[in-house]
Amino acid sequence: MSRRTLLVATALLLAACAVQLPAAAAAPLGSLLESAARLDSWLVSTRRAFHAQPELVFEEHNTSAAIRQHLDELGIRYKFPIARTGIVAEIGQGQPVVVLRADIDALPILEETGFDYASRSPGRMHACGHDAHMTMLLGGAKLLKGMEAQLKGTVRLLFQPAEEGGAGGDLMVKEGALEGVKAAFGMHVWPMLPSGVVASRAGTIMSGAIQFEATLRGRGGHAAMPHLTADPVVASAAAVGALQALVARETSPFDSAVVSVTRLQAGEAFNVIPDEAKIGGTVRSNNDEGMARLRRRLEETVAGVAAAHGCTSEVSWLEESMPYYPPTVNDGEAYKFAMDVAGSLRDDPGLVTETEASMAGEDFSFIGRAVPSCFIFLGIRNETAGSVHGLHTPRFTLDEGVLKLGAALHAGLASQYLQRWHERQAGGAKEEL
Ligand SMILES: *[C@@H]1O[C@H](CO)[C@@H](O)[C@H](O)[C@H]1NC(C)=O
Ligand SMILES: *[C@@H]1O[C@H](CO)[C@@H](O)[C@H](O)[C@H]1NC(C)=O
Ligand SMILES: [Zn+2]
Ligand SMILES: [Zn+2]
Repeated sequence: MSRRTLLVATALLLAACAVQLPAAAAAPLGSLLESAARLDSWLVSTRRAFHAQPELVFEEHNTSAAIRQHLDELGIRYKFPIARTGIVAEIGQGQPVVVLRADIDALPILEETGFDYASRSPGRMHACGHDAHMTMLLGGAKLLKGMEAQLKGTVRLLFQPAEEGGAGGDLMVKEGALEGVKAAFGMHVWPMLPSGVVASRAGTIMSGAIQFEATLRGRGGHAAMPHLTADPVVASAAAVGALQALVARETSPFDSAVVSVTRLQAGEAFNVIPDEAKIGGTVRSNNDEGMARLRRRLEETVAGVAAAHGCTSEVSWLEESMPYYPPTVNDGEAYKFAMDVAGSLRDDPGLVTETEASMAGEDFSFIGRAVPSCFIFLGIRNETAGSVHGLHTPRFTLDEGVLKLGAALHAGLASQYLQRWHERQAGGAKEEL
């Protein structure tokens, strides 16, 4: 057989197979996206209303009130307050209980988008898309409420405050938001991925993160007589250099870690060596052991370098102002399930993909520690919609076309989870997802 004949034969064989294969089962979730699409103008106006009134960590009073008003209109029962400004709502009843979570806080950024629905609070902005997260969860709630009679258990909605540095997720868990819960799902709009793409991964998807500030104390003096001083500026510069080795030389190339020094503060004059210098920054790792090791080694390195320069030092982890966020680790089964549901929403399997992890922190991690869970990225990058700016930047723009997908995905994840949990119980499965 010539190569060409072989190719033709193969193509014919494949075509024949395609005909003989049983038709794929009708996507059970296909209609969710259509239902969500009918909510489109409501989703857009709801998101814009949230966007116009951004509130910071644990100050989300009006935001929380607006969410409760939506829940009242939908006839959805809820508990308030939890974690100060948070809300826990429920749809359906009985076992199991599955959680869908949205964060609700904004950032201290001066918005520069120029939209007519831009922030009405100068210096505050929904620049991390949490306005979209709340909206998509409310949209999902609307869809789920419409099918409440068919739900095979309870969907618990977590509207969580203070993701941006307040560890609101931790407080929600501590105040009992996950009691009786079997699994949890959350999503984040993601400008690094094209609009409509749903992406996640098994294992760590977001990093552990903590901030530090090191103070190096020496003995200042006249800049012309350095031999009479113990110079904390030179000690700090050496410490910044030495810290680079913690990742480059001490972290396995198969692990991910970051040590970034982002602040250097010392002195004022040009001819005075100061008594003290400060360096500050962030430490990140994709695993708990890595975090523990980097923290210990950062303290040892700063102390050693300071001592070598005749200085003393002290490292503070600033946890009162910015609590430690552990790595966000997705359960393997929950990940597979979530991607399966995302794939069933639409015909194009290319829109559901595995993604690399991010070194950003996220307090969904506290939920992921407590129950099997999956955190999902929802692509929003779209040149036409102008959605090309990074999270946490003043021109961050959301492709509002993805709101319906997020709403449908929430509803699909919850309803399917309940359904499959019962199927697994009936099948005698001991393991719970
Ligand atoms: C919250 O709502 C009240 C009453 O409508 C309003 O006076 C206040 O300015 C709002 N606060 C913020 C931060 O938007
Ligand atoms: C990008 O945005 C435009 C304008 O809003 C929209 O028509 C288009 O469908 C979007 N593309 C994707 C892939 O969603
Ligand atoms: Zn953020
Ligand atoms: Zn965020």
